[in-house]
Amino acid sequence: MTLMDIPQHQLTMTVLMTPDTANFSGNVHGGAILKLLDEVAYACASRYAARYVVTMSVDQVIFRQPIHVGELVTFLASVNHTGTSSMEIGIRVVAENIRTQEKRHVNSCYFTMVAVDENRKPTPVPIFGPQNDEEKRRHSAAEIRKNARIRANNQLNAQKALTIN
Ligand SMILES: CC(C)(COP(=O)(O)OP(=O)(O)OC[C@H]1O[C@@H](n2cnc3c(N)ncnc32)[C@H](O)[C@@H]1OP(=O)(O)O)[C@@H](O)C(=O)NCCC(=O)NCCS
Repeated sequence: MTLMDIPQHQLTMTVLMTPDTANFSGNVHGGAILKLLDEVAYACASRYAARYVVTMSVDQVIFRQPIHVGELVTFLASVNHTGTSSMEIGIRVVAENIRTQEKRHVNSCYFTMVAVDENRKPTPVPIFGPQNDEEKRRHSAAEIRKNARIRANNQLNAQKALTIN
């Protein structure tokens, strides 16, 4: 597959984990991965929307296993769902041991990115219509996460209002 064939709603990035990414235990620092995740989410969302975007939120960053210095880490990103100005970007992270070629799924997470105009105000993005079964599954899972986020925010705001009054 060449760059010309990669769908507009998907993006892949592979990075070699160099020694400067290590923490005190010698594995890759979680913060180094978070920075790369944010860059991948930005690249995927802005390429899809053809707009500048900002990070609104990030959910469910679970480091299932440590990532080691010297491994190749691949970030597989896709637009799962769009609202009016927001996009959910799902990122699957796979680490690969260069010598054994063993691949491990080390992390998956979901970013909400919002497209903004010149005044940094939210601006509409093209509607994403899932095409295949996997995209349809991700799309409905993203809707469940979006509704859960809205419910949690509403409950927290209601609780805050009660505490203030
Ligand atoms: C992103 C930003 C422009 C949105 O402005 P806003 O006035 O809150 O805009 P809205 O209320 O219209 O919300 C915009 C979208 O974000 C979504 N949104 C709002 N709160 C959210 C939350 N807690 N989680 C996920 N999405 C959320 C809304 O549903 C809306 O989506 P839609 O257009 O698809 O329906 C503004 O909050 C901002 O500038 N935030 C800082 C972003 C930033 O600097 N990130 C980097 C941090 S270092």
